[in-house]
Amino acid sequence: MDQDRTPLFDAIREYNRIRPAYFRIPGHRYERGVSSRWTELVGGEIFKFDLTETPLLDDLHHPESAIKEAQELAAEVFGALRSFFLVNGTTCGNEAMIASTAFEGQKIAIPRNAHKSALMGLIISGARPIYVMPGLSSEFGLQGGISPQAADAVFRENPDCKGLMVVSPTYYGICSDIRGLSESCHRHGAALIVDEAHGAHMYFSERLPDGALAQGADMCAQSIHKVTGSLTQSSMLHIGSGLVDGDRVEATLHIVQSTSPSYLLMTSLDLARRELALNGRGLIANAVDLALYARNAIDGIDGIACAGEGITGTAGIAGMDTTRLVISAGRIGLTGFELKRILYEGYGVDLELSDHANALAIVTFANTREDIDRLIAALRDIGEKRGGGPPIGDGTPLPPIPPYALSPREAYFASKRIIPWQDARGKVASEMIAPYPPGIPVIYPGEIVSDEVWEYVEAFRLRKGHLHGPADGGLDSYKVIDA
Ligand SMILES: Cc1ncc(COP(=O)(O)O)c(C=O)c1O
Repeated sequence: MDQDRTPLFDAIREYNRIRPAYFRIPGHRYERGVSSRWTELVGGEIFKFDLTETPLLDDLHHPESAIKEAQELAAEVFGALRSFFLVNGTTCGNEAMIASTAFEGQKIAIPRNAHKSALMGLIISGARPIYVMPGLSSEFGLQGGISPQAADAVFRENPDCKGLMVVSPTYYGICSDIRGLSESCHRHGAALIVDEAHGAHMYFSERLPDGALAQGADMCAQSIHKVTGSLTQSSMLHIGSGLVDGDRVEATLHIVQSTSPSYLLMTSLDLARRELALNGRGLIANAVDLALYARNAIDGIDGIACAGEGITGTAGIAGMDTTRLVISAGRIGLTGFELKRILYEGYGVDLELSDHANALAIVTFANTREDIDRLIAALRDIGEKRGGGPPIGDGTPLPPIPPYALSPREAYFASKRIIPWQDARGKVASEMIAPYPPGIPVIYPGEIVSDEVWEYVEAFRLRKGHLHGPADGGLDSYKVIDA
């Protein structure tokens, strides 16, 4: 196909050239009805792309022309059999992948540390999760990958399991052995679905691990908006093999996507795909080079370290996206939270996120050498000012995954009550609890609060550790399912 084409962008330009008298939604009629405070700053052009299913512009929910061709072009670039544009992020992609793979009462394997959209997918589908624990890397306290051996164990114990979902790469750039996992899944007739929210750029560089579809995944969802140039919320879902029922995926996408999909978002996907197809290799090479430059410099700063490919081969980690800089200043006594705050408040350097041990900088092709130099200079300055403090870390092993009483869907619809946390042992949980570090949930809605889980969480609570999930973060009270 001619990857220089931009069918949706071109169709919108043509519509604007004709500029019909407009009596549809949205009501701002091209640029005319948008607040002048906004148009005076940014001009009117962009608002002319905010249109709807007019003649010429096709319909995301029933594509026949411009959107159909734009999706076909995307499928070719990523090596997919079929691709769908998403306007509600990879959040809705994960929901659709899970809900179209396993139905009410069926089993699907999910990593214990999956994005919360996986839980929503389970609620929509009614499927029963078989949770798989990712490895844990001792060096940076990072959540690792899912190994093919772990997948084999799941399928041995659950031969009726319909599929396995993995997150690869993770937010921190950790990649699982997708090739090995797809072989394991296919030996058992199950589908491998990959949350590749953070990985669309990996298809364009030999210096990064291969993309999931190139390694045999049956389906994946990618946030094109994260590092590959489209606008926030725009993602793609790709089908990689005949094991997936594309019509069912499409039907599920009708449930989780707006009936008024944004043409701005879809156009940004059309244009990002063109850039990736024509210039992706050069762009991603630029991102990798910038990240390597940063890594070399950071490695030379006393007391500050950047997780590198050295952790590959441990904790289920098969590879690393080196454009993710996982930075630890633990050796000079700073938590990741503190490091991120100091970088922003003291140096005007804004990182993506932080946890107890690390702060995460994401390098993309659109970063500049100047951005990287600012990050390096700030880290050098921080390294010089801080003395050697105590190392940071918590090595308590996680409690075993507790038994479940209800599926996530049953738990979602069950009636609930709030009780003192002290009385929660043996009750059916209604709230997920993920103590940080390591941020892996120890209990999910529908599971029974086991003694081991209760004691692990209680120890965290007493030392006022960060507990993600419960409405009452201090955990004086806790929401359970009404018995
Ligand atoms: C691993 C993972 N999966 C899915 C998502 C959801 O993606 P989106 O923001 O495109 O909805 C995120 C968001 O950060 C994520 O980190």
